[in-house]
Amino acid sequence: MTQLEQSDIFYPSSEVTEQANVAEYEKLYQYSVENREAFWAEQAENLNWFKKWDSVLDESNAPMYKWFDGGEINIVHNAVDRHVENANRNKMAIIWEGENGEKRNFSYNGLNREVCQFANVLKSMGVEKGDVVTIYMPQIPELIFAMLACAKIGAVHSVVYGGFSTEALASRIDDAHSRVLITADGGSRRGKKINLKAIANDAMKRSPSIEVCICVKNNELDVEMEPSRDFWLHDLKALPIAGSKCETEKTGAEDPLFILYTSGTTGSPKGMVHTHGGYAVYTSTTHRMIFDIKPQDRWWCAADPGWITGHSYIVYGPLINGATIMLYDGAPNYPYPNRWWQIIENYGINILYTSPTAIRGLMRFGERWPKKHDLSSLRLLGSVGEPINPKAWKWYHHVIGNDKCPIIDTWWQTETGGCMISPLPITPLKPGSATKPFFGNEISIVNDEGNEVGANEEGKLIIKNPWPGMARTVFKDEQRYKDLYWSQVDGKWRYLAGDSAKKDDDGYIWVIGRIDEVLKVSGYRLGTAEIEHALVSHPAVTEAAAIGLPHELKGNAIHTYVVIKEGMVGDKNLCNELKEHVGSEMGKIATPEDVQFVEALPKTRSGKIMRRVLKARALGQDEGDLSTLEE
Ligand code: PRX
Repeated sequence: MTQLEQSDIFYPSSEVTEQANVAEYEKLYQYSVENREAFWAEQAENLNWFKKWDSVLDESNAPMYKWFDGGEINIVHNAVDRHVENANRNKMAIIWEGENGEKRNFSYNGLNREVCQFANVLKSMGVEKGDVVTIYMPQIPELIFAMLACAKIGAVHSVVYGGFSTEALASRIDDAHSRVLITADGGSRRGKKINLKAIANDAMKRSPSIEVCICVKNNELDVEMEPSRDFWLHDLKALPIAGSKCETEKTGAEDPLFILYTSGTTGSPKGMVHTHGGYAVYTSTTHRMIFDIKPQDRWWCAADPGWITGHSYIVYGPLINGATIMLYDGAPNYPYPNRWWQIIENYGINILYTSPTAIRGLMRFGERWPKKHDLSSLRLLGSVGEPINPKAWKWYHHVIGNDKCPIIDTWWQTETGGCMISPLPITPLKPGSATKPFFGNEISIVNDEGNEVGANEEGKLIIKNPWPGMARTVFKDEQRYKDLYWSQVDGKWRYLAGDSAKKDDDGYIWVIGRIDEVLKVSGYRLGTAEIEHALVSHPAVTEAAAIGLPHELKGNAIHTYVVIKEGMVGDKNLCNELKEHVGSEMGKIATPEDVQFVEALPKTRSGKIMRRVLKARALGQDEGDLSTLEE
């Protein structure tokens, strides 16, 4: 660890730099921002287009930008079809392992067969181009087949993370008006079976739009199936309608590929809309350049496909690049804390991409678990989702990477579609900094007036340009998209990320955290509004507020304050009941750490809850300006 401890700058080894897909940063960066359209057009040439675009970037209706408009492409044509025609045909596309040790593998040819069959099943259920299909599944290969099957026929998938629960699922189905839901009987965690279908059934009671529910048999749970609405996938696949050939729909570059709901500052989650063309170009380019993918690599993004990281870097980016992807459905420390390290050794994983929370979680079991395994296949290590603290960075680098793998700390969001700030394998690293903007991106830190702040000063992170992977809108709410993210300074549009950050003297960017009512809990993005809504839906509660407070493992933990109805007793029992209630409405990840019963919540005179006051009080800090606080 010599170099790292002396200066806290890590210089990548020649072993990594000599074979890097991108050998130089500064010149190409300069070129990419001065010739943005040319740079992205060159990257787009790596994909197969049914018809070339008319314009690379259409700014005529900014900030409703269009990329590669007039072009015809289908992301599945690039992620699957073309590989079946080329040398990747028999290459492993997906290696899957379940928590109980079950293994399943799919070559690109096998993946194509599964996707075609699934697509034919969807067609037979009346799914058409543009329809939104909701998917609620464990991390099994069928989740990927379902996503690709939708995209193949031009339908739009809306994946709801399998760890979410009834209300979270129901509200997302409602917003999207989905007619079809794809789910499974259930999944497993730590040897315990989770009944997803039961949650889906409850959600369907609350969301009348679902007419068809396709259920994958996964964990053999005895589940309730409603005749004429619910069908087993294996029954449908046995029918003649589910042939193993299906033509890929020619979609427009700007046609919607998926909706992914994410929590924001206020109200209900926003359905961020991504497209077939720009998203394909952006995810595959970033995956190739940042993660340095080679044909012989085994790539493991240990996220859940149900979040943006999984969409972009388990499914689309890697498959477009013809990579072999690892998928593991289980807890990282089950049955023992060496499970991940065992997977890396068993399958010879070359690149691991995970979250600081996962690293901290495994770090607490000590070095002896990874030390049992040969991790020498690893070449690069990635991090995403929240700032990585230097202690976790150094452990990851030293213990897992044996001091030879660069830590690729990538900053981005559901809205950005792919990595926006990130080192390349050739970049000198500073633990805790996501380093420099990716090609084509100009990123600044500004004050409340919108002016750039000085070096090492904290401010708001903004992006000064459009990029192909950007979300195009909030589903059915263009105005909300414009209002939430875009503002104009000196006639130029800029994207406001909602994070605070600093740039140091070397131009390295250090992301500090959210400046809005979004919580990052174990890297998962949750909105205070949804947690509060779940609390208030309990009959004992009249008002509720949720805040995030620092937590050693989770980054942030949810702390809640509730006002209960007269006559109710705020005791330990009610506290536990409320925690469970939030868990069953929203999902376990949203379960509060703590519920405090209070007489009243601090509010502005116009009735807005002042969460920052609660936070300052909890942390024993100055409460700041209280002039707007009501009596
Ligand atoms: O606060 C930033 C944090 O995660 C937010 C985006 O969350 P989500 O849309 O769920 O996407 C997460 C995975 C791409 C950001 O606004 N964040 C993400 N990556 C980093 C990060 N914060 C610091 N460093 C990162 N590398």
